Amino acid sequence: MATRKEPTVKDKIKRLSELREQAKLGGGPKRIEAQHAKGKLTARERIELLLDPGSFNELDMFVVHQCTEFGMQERKILGDGVVTGYGTIDGRLVYVFSQDFTVFGGSLGEMFAKKVCKLMDLALKTGAPVIGLNDSGGARIQEGVASLAGYGDIFFRNVISSGVIPQISAIMGPCAGGAVYSPALTDFIVMVDKTAHMFITGPDVVKAALGQEVTFEELGGAMVHSSTSGVAHFIAKDEEHCIQIIKKLLSYLPSNYLEDPPVIEPTDDPNRADESLAEILPDDPDKPYNVKEIISCVVDNEDFFEVQSLWAPNIVVGFARLNGKPVGIVANQPAHYAGTLDINSSMKAGRFIRFCDCFNIPIITFVDVPGFLPGLDQEHGGIIRHGSKLLYAYCEATVPKVTVILRKAYGGAYDVMGSKHSGADINYAWPTAEIAVMGPHGAINIIFRKEIAQSGDPEQKRLELVSEYREKFANPYVAAQKGYIDEVIQPAETRPKLISALESLSTKREPRPSRKHGNIPL
Ligand code: HXC
Repeated sequence: MATRKEPTVKDKIKRLSELREQAKLGGGPKRIEAQHAKGKLTARERIELLLDPGSFNELDMFVVHQCTEFGMQERKILGDGVVTGYGTIDGRLVYVFSQDFTVFGGSLGEMFAKKVCKLMDLALKTGAPVIGLNDSGGARIQEGVASLAGYGDIFFRNVISSGVIPQISAIMGPCAGGAVYSPALTDFIVMVDKTAHMFITGPDVVKAALGQEVTFEELGGAMVHSSTSGVAHFIAKDEEHCIQIIKKLLSYLPSNYLEDPPVIEPTDDPNRADESLAEILPDDPDKPYNVKEIISCVVDNEDFFEVQSLWAPNIVVGFARLNGKPVGIVANQPAHYAGTLDINSSMKAGRFIRFCDCFNIPIITFVDVPGFLPGLDQEHGGIIRHGSKLLYAYCEATVPKVTVILRKAYGGAYDVMGSKHSGADINYAWPTAEIAVMGPHGAINIIFRKEIAQSGDPEQKRLELVSEYREKFANPYVAAQKGYIDEVIQPAETRPKLISALESLSTKREPRPSRKHGNIPL
C-alpha cells in the first residue's frame, strides 16, 4: 500500500504561491477578457492604478462564500468577488475595496459583505479614508436575505463613519437596487462615463411598472447623475481619469476629523495682488459674468477643483488652496439663473459646507446673489424647506468662515450666503457690493408706487428713484457702518486679505451648546 507523502516546507510555500495566483485570477481568464472587452479594468488593476506602487496589502484573499443553494457549493472562488486591503496614496494610508465583476458579476453575498465590513471597521479604528470601487450586479440572488443583511451591515458602517473618516465611492460598472445606498451614504461619488450606471429599479422594471422604455444610460448613466439628479459629484471620461479624480480629491482632505487637511509648500505669492480682478465685473450690475474667473485669480496657481460642476450650476462649489492650505469655496454663479438660489443649489452648497465643516476645511464664500429663484415650481417643490438647509449648514459650521460680497447680496439670500449673522468670522465686500432688502427696481416699485403713478413722466421718475436708491442702499457702506461688513476691500487685494484672514483664524475654536444632534430640515 502506497503511503501518503507528507508535504515538505517547500511544498507548503509553493502551495501558498499557487493559491495566491489562483485568487488573483478571480473569475478566470475568459471573464477577465470579457471585462476588458467592455473597456473596464479588473478589480486588481484598478487598485494598482489607485495606490502607490507596491503599497497594497490584501486582506481576506482566501475567503469563500458559505452558500449551498443552487449548486453554489460547487462554485467557490477565492476572495468571493471583492478585493479588500490597505495601502497608501501619496504616502497616506487608505483602505480600499474593489468589487470584482468577474466573480458572480461582483454580486454581494454574506462573506463578501463581511470582508467589506472588516475593512470599514479597520479604517474607522485607524482614522483613514475608505475608497470603494463599485462594479456589481447587486445582491447575490442565490444568498437571499444574507445578501440583504450584508448590505445593511455596510450601510450602518457608512453612517457610523460619516464625518469621522472621508468615504469616497467610484462607480465603474453597474450599481443597482438598494446597492446604490452605500455610495449614496458616502461623501463623494465619481462615475465613469458610459460604463457606470446607478438606479434603484432597472429599465425592465420601469417598463413593467410604467410602460416607459428607457436605456441604462438614460435611466442612471454618469451624465444623468452628474447633471440632472445630482447623485454623482464627478464624471470621469474613463477609469484612469476616475482614479486621478479620487487622488486629487484626497489631496485636499485630512485622513479623519481630528486632523487638519494636508498643507503643501506654496508656490504662489500670498501677497499677489491681481488688478485683473476688477475687470471681471461688468459695469452694468445686471450683466452676468463667470465667477469661476474670480475664483481662479484668487486661489493658489489658479487651481480650482470643482465639485458637481454640471448640477445646479447657479452655485459653484469646490476645493482650492490658499497659501498651500486647503479651503472649500462656495460662490454664486451670475452666469446661470443670474446666480439666484434655488432648491438644487441650496442642497448642493449645504451638503458641501457640511462636508468641509466635518473635516476642518475653512469655507470661503463669494457672494453675488439677487435672491431666491421665484416661481411655482420652486415654491411647490419646497424651496422653503430646501433653502433652509443651506442656511442651517452655514450657521452650523464652526470652521473658519470668510465671506466676500462681490456684487449683489439681496434679501434673505444676503443672510444665507455666509453673512455675519450666520456666523461668518470675517466679512469683506468689494466697493461694487450692493447689500439691500431687494434690487432697486423691485424696491422702488413697492415703496414709491403712488409717486411713480402720479408723476407726469413715470419712466423718468422711476429712473431717478432707482438711481437714488442705488446710491443710498445698493452699496457696501451702510452694512460697513453697522459692522456687518468688517472691511471694504479693493478687488485686487482679495487674495492677500483672504490669506491673512485665514491665518488669523487658524486657532479658531467655537464651542456650541451640547446636544445629541441638531435637526437639519431634511
Ligand atoms: C448573482 C449575478 C447577479 C446577482 C449578475 N450575476 N448579477 N449573480 N446575483 N445579482 C452574474 C450573472 O449570473 C453572470 O454569471 C455574471 O454575474 C455576469 O452577469 P451578466 O448578466 O452576464 O453580465 P452583463 O450582461 O454585463 O449584465 C450585468 C448586469 C446584469 C446588468 C448587472 O447581470 C443584471 O441585471 N444583474 C442583476 C441586477 C439586479 O437586479 N441585482 C439585484 C438588485 S436588487 P455567469 O456565471 O453567467 O457569468 C439589490 C438589492 C440590494 O441589489 C438591497 C440592499 C438593501
